Amino acid sequence: MDDTVGSPFFESIRRNIKVSYFVASIIPLGLLVYLSVKYILPLVTGGDLSALPLHIGILLFLAVVLSVLGLSLSVQTTNKSIFALQTLHRKLNSLLEITKQFRETPYLDLLLENIIRSATDLIYAETGSLLLFKDEEHLVYKVVTGKDAEILKDRTIKVGSGFAGQVAKTARPLLINKVDENSGREMGIVINSALCVPLIYSKKVIGVIELLNKKGDVFTREDERLLHSLADQAAISISQSRELETRQSDLIHITEILISAQDGYSKIKKGHARRVARYANLIARKMGLGEDFMKTLYYACLFHDIGFLRIPVEEQGQRERIFQHPRLGYEMIKPISLWSDVAEWILYHHERYDGRGYPSGKKGEEIPLGSRIIFVADTFDVLTSKRSYKDTLSFEMAIAEIEANSGSQFDPEVVNAFKSSISETDIMTE
Ligand SMILES: [Fe+2]
Repeated sequence: MDDTVGSPFFESIRRNIKVSYFVASIIPLGLLVYLSVKYILPLVTGGDLSALPLHIGILLFLAVVLSVLGLSLSVQTTNKSIFALQTLHRKLNSLLEITKQFRETPYLDLLLENIIRSATDLIYAETGSLLLFKDEEHLVYKVVTGKDAEILKDRTIKVGSGFAGQVAKTARPLLINKVDENSGREMGIVINSALCVPLIYSKKVIGVIELLNKKGDVFTREDERLLHSLADQAAISISQSRELETRQSDLIHITEILISAQDGYSKIKKGHARRVARYANLIARKMGLGEDFMKTLYYACLFHDIGFLRIPVEEQGQRERIFQHPRLGYEMIKPISLWSDVAEWILYHHERYDGRGYPSGKKGEEIPLGSRIIFVADTFDVLTSKRSYKDTLSFEMAIAEIEANSGSQFDPEVVNAFKSSISETDIMTE
């Protein structure tokens, strides 16, 4: 950042201070030395007073006036420099704060809006746009602020055309303060000044930030350098956010495949995983658990019985095989680093609160809270969904059954949260 924003800026401050010091000190001092050597020294050594071109008092007065003028200029320059430094400091702090916000914005659409709003605020531009490559030949206006938003949003332009198109093509910034009056006319936009910088990630242009019409002033090289620094950070965040969205999309597809596999493997369990996830979500929300917890719980519910995929269908009713399914599920999910927390909750989802469950006989708070929630949600779905070998209980009967086992099979706190969060309309049939 120092290289991009600092050097020319500090160079100009250093030059101004040097000039003011020269006027304030060197000129009066030089004058005094000159007068001393030329006139005063000969007088001290017995010379003639009438040889002076001006009265000595006037000469001294002139030297003092020059000193005072120089000093005042010096103070003025220093104050101006301090003000400029304070402004730069404020802008750099804003830039740091802005880039921190970029890193913390998880969704691409929010991130793009955040970038353009921050850029227009930082540079005092009337409007701003962010364009991304749509394909190799075209850019699309993803975010537009100000009164031009409706005209430009989602509009596609060719690489090489217009300010943004040129910047995308050359990968170099563009700063124009006297814009040809025809520019922007076809789109009905009045453009007085423009500042565009490329968004570059891994040496590749991924888009452009375009700011139009500096408020009450003109765009400066310092504006360009600041916007360039912001664009560098923005490009990193955009690329990371895109990668994350791709990974999340992959995760959704993988999850779908696994759930279909579970549903297809055993007819009895069709839709069970999704229903358990729904009920568990109600409990966790009632208990005020955070988003990260909810996310882990969601996947733990979807895969809590995935261990059955490792048991042949004809053996799935055998007691000793049923006891194995939490550990088999744990072993299947554990190697996936993304779901390592999920695996542990799967392992203990049949542990009872009184310690008489399986596979480890853990009790009370030794059992992860996620597993205690899944156990209640799982049991409720087993009681209320249609199964080939037993009757379905009504909503009230299922709640009564859960309540009857509160403190022995289930965590009473989880049961209470469940009772107060679920209603009959929440029961899912599919
Ligand atoms: Fe289970």
